Amino acid sequence: MSHHIVEFRDVHYRYPDGTAALNGLSLRITHGESVGIVGANGAGKSTLLMHMNGYLLPHSGTITIGDFILEKKTRQEIRKKVGLIFQNPDDQLFMPTVFDDVAFGPLNLGLDPEKVRERVDEALGTVGCMALKDKPPHHLSSGQKSAVAIASVLAMRPDILVMDEPASNLDPRGRRYLINLLNDFVHTRIIASHDLDLILDVCSRCIVIKNGRVMADGPAEAVLSDSALLEDNNLELPLSMQKNKTRTKGGVMNDIQKLVHLIEHWSEHNEEHAKTYREWAGKAEALGKADLAATLKEIAEKTVQMDLLFSKAKGLCKP
Ligand SMILES: Nc1ncnc2c1ncn2[C@@H]1O[C@H](COP(=O)(O)OP(=O)(O)O)[C@@H](O)[C@H]1O
Ligand SMILES: [Mg+2]
Repeated sequence: MSHHIVEFRDVHYRYPDGTAALNGLSLRITHGESVGIVGANGAGKSTLLMHMNGYLLPHSGTITIGDFILEKKTRQEIRKKVGLIFQNPDDQLFMPTVFDDVAFGPLNLGLDPEKVRERVDEALGTVGCMALKDKPPHHLSSGQKSAVAIASVLAMRPDILVMDEPASNLDPRGRRYLINLLNDFVHTRIIASHDLDLILDVCSRCIVIKNGRVMADGPAEAVLSDSALLEDNNLELPLSMQKNKTRTKGGVMNDIQKLVHLIEHWSEHNEEHAKTYREWAGKAEALGKADLAATLKEIAEKTVQMDLLFSKAKGLCKP
């Protein structure tokens, strides 16, 4: 079982006008990972993503998706596994109604009409767009279009979800909705975005692309707190990391400063979470689930203790 591995080995791609967009790119993403792809405009993120479902084919190098090596004849199989959401939803939506657009993929999978309807309802429900079912996509707002484009891919039940700048058309509420949706998606997620806070919220790993190559690859919190690396790629520290930012003169943090940063980030939501666990413990109690309520309370207590440990760790960072 090789399952749902995405592997690029020394991949090169040149656009018809001669622009070399991928220049020996290699990476390997395994099942269930959530990976952010970041980099300056023109770095090659979209080109990389468009290879993941065979929308583009490499000029040299090898791309393996699950059990298949990407080539013309495996493209159809790969597209059943990989759901690619384009940056511009207008590239994704082309049918007369939202229903038809979301049904398009499942119909192509050969599902019967009853199953197709189920898939459409489920996918539109997930993105909160049930009410738009009969509308023509070109009447929707750009945020609604993005949500429907996401539904059209979710309806295929992909094993690997690939998104290009998914938050760029969304209002804050839509963005939060998207973050929750991505956090609930259990399979592989690969997300290119300039919204580094979104990447931080959703991805455990982050890859920096520059000139069509991998510049850095590591835990999202480490990569996205490296101000020198980010600056070199026309990016800025995520807003959540700019709070209490401590920098040395040259603008580059040393490891201990980075660690303080990371600890602040790791512990950021503990208090909030503990409160939520207690609330739900109360609800569980009301439902007659005493053991569940007790366990949730225990989780809340341990979360609070974790907060104390983080404070202690932060204290120990001082010289
Ligand atoms: N259709 C195209 N034809 C020619 N060059 C392109 C095309 N699309 C993108 N490029 C070029 O390829 C490079 C990588 O672009 P892209 O993958 O869109 O980067 P990113 O998504 O990181 O902004 C850039 O130099 C861009 O100008
Ligand atoms: Mg792009």
